[in-house]
Amino acid sequence: MKIKSDFLVIGSGIAGLSFAIKTAQKFPDKKIHIITKGSKEESNTKYAQGGIATVYDLTRDSYESHIQDTLIAGDGLCNPEVVEMVVKQATQRLDELLRWGVSFDKKQNGEFDLGKEGGHSKNRIFHHKDITGYEIEKSLLKIVAKLPNIEFFDFHYAIDLITEHQVYGDLISLEDDKTVFGAYVLDEKNNEVKTFVAKYTMLATGGSGQVYETTTNPFVATGDGIGMAYRAKARLDDMEFIQFHPTALYNPGESPAFLISEAVRGFGAFLRNTNSERFMYKYDKRLELAPRDIVARSIDTEMKLHGSKHVFLDVRHLNYNDFVNHFPNITEKCKSLNIDIRKDLIPVAPAAHYMMGGITVDKHGRTSIKNLYASGEVTRTGLHGANRLASNSLLEALVFSHNAVEDIATNGFDPSKLPPIPQWIDTSTDRTMEKILITHDRNEVKTIMSNYVGIVRSNERLLRALRRLYVLYQDNKRLYDHAELTTELLELRNLITTAYLIVEFSRKRKENKGGFYSLDYR
Ligand code: FAD
Ligand code: SIN
Repeated sequence: MKIKSDFLVIGSGIAGLSFAIKTAQKFPDKKIHIITKGSKEESNTKYAQGGIATVYDLTRDSYESHIQDTLIAGDGLCNPEVVEMVVKQATQRLDELLRWGVSFDKKQNGEFDLGKEGGHSKNRIFHHKDITGYEIEKSLLKIVAKLPNIEFFDFHYAIDLITEHQVYGDLISLEDDKTVFGAYVLDEKNNEVKTFVAKYTMLATGGSGQVYETTTNPFVATGDGIGMAYRAKARLDDMEFIQFHPTALYNPGESPAFLISEAVRGFGAFLRNTNSERFMYKYDKRLELAPRDIVARSIDTEMKLHGSKHVFLDVRHLNYNDFVNHFPNITEKCKSLNIDIRKDLIPVAPAAHYMMGGITVDKHGRTSIKNLYASGEVTRTGLHGANRLASNSLLEALVFSHNAVEDIATNGFDPSKLPPIPQWIDTSTDRTMEKILITHDRNEVKTIMSNYVGIVRSNERLLRALRRLYVLYQDNKRLYDHAELTTELLELRNLITTAYLIVEFSRKRKENKGGFYSLDYR
């Protein structure tokens, strides 16, 4: 089946939805298709807790301060021009969210209640309790449902981008400039591959935390956009920089890991080791509010020193009512595990949380492939450098999705005709694939990445990871060539590719920076 539109949006988190809304409003006579795997709302966006960093009141905060905080967290590898652009656009993007019905908490005097997180020198995090992402996702989906020129295809899994390679085959060399014409998409309910043809494609598939054993990212975060972009020969950068959130709830068996927001430390919580001692003073003068890479590594060191599987967060000294008011979801979660935050310590450990690298885009969200835009966690924009400043990513997605729409509007809708796009050819001969072939390998990718390519790496560990991933790649390729396509098989293919890229980029880095730390460069 061939389905034609003007804009194809892949992914329904904050990046994809905000792009779709703006495109629909800017081009009312054009057709927009959003496809997303699984249900519409499942995304990293939905689970965001802390909020959105924004300088709003220039009498209390300054752009310069947010810019400096971002640059410091990024460990010297941010693009300063991009940082300035994003920070200065934040106020407009936040006003837009307010117009779209997103509600942010206010104090009794009517002023916004701004939170604080690691690396920020001011309180500047706009939040909705501790479920900011849920509030945003719900509000954006409501707007999308009202726009007549948007059609939603949930339970649709993008397999591969369509470029000249699919149209002209071997006549195209690897070096030729490429254009995107849409994507091949698996209808997850009917098991049918559909051909979505579009003039512009927005890749907004989010993160890839699922390459690790312990992650805060939901099951959909399997690096699909990274895999698709890599196969289409788009440029990728900074893949070695992985952010581990210092404080995921330590609750063995729970997956994904439940996050205890950094805003809890911003609210005054302490970190303690299993001897009940505060330890951050040994590592950084900013203590519990040092940038995430530093706090995560400090916790990792303490866990190794004490042979423990976690450390603790201590909120016992904080005002209970104020805490519950700001963090009702976290309080409830602790209660459900018989942790009374008034007298008990909360066990926490680092978990894979965010990927700083990804598909390289310019300030307009343009990738290296013509008519392919990308936004959100799947991208490498230059904002985060080697380590993302907390609560800068929802903002980044809003800014780059906005800029992409403006770019298309400014340059005028591309009038060129699309080439004849071939339908998907089903080569599968085996419809009896055993699920164990997938589940085992998915677990193996996670084990390899957690043990060899985690918070602390080394050349030897990276080499071992590479060799083992190569075996998994070969096995997966054989399956892909003859087995019936399923979401699980396709996700595994992208997990292996993403893991491979993280390892290969890590092997090329010869200096410790932000989210990359190797014993060989101490
Ligand atoms: P996502 O929101 O992940 O959306 C990606 C979408 O693409 C999903 O709908 C997914 O199903 C779909 N998709 C993926 N692959 C395919 C495919 N092959 N075919 C079709 N669809 C596909 N950032 C902040 O700034 N502030 C915070 O407070 C904050 N808290 C966080 C808390 C948690 C627990 C987590 C996990 C992240 C948090 N982050 C936070 C990071 C932030 O949430 C994400 O970086 C951001 O939401 C990413 O948005 P996105 O639109 O790029 O991707
Ligand atoms: C958190 O609430 O700690 C997550 C914030 C983020 O990842 O930006």
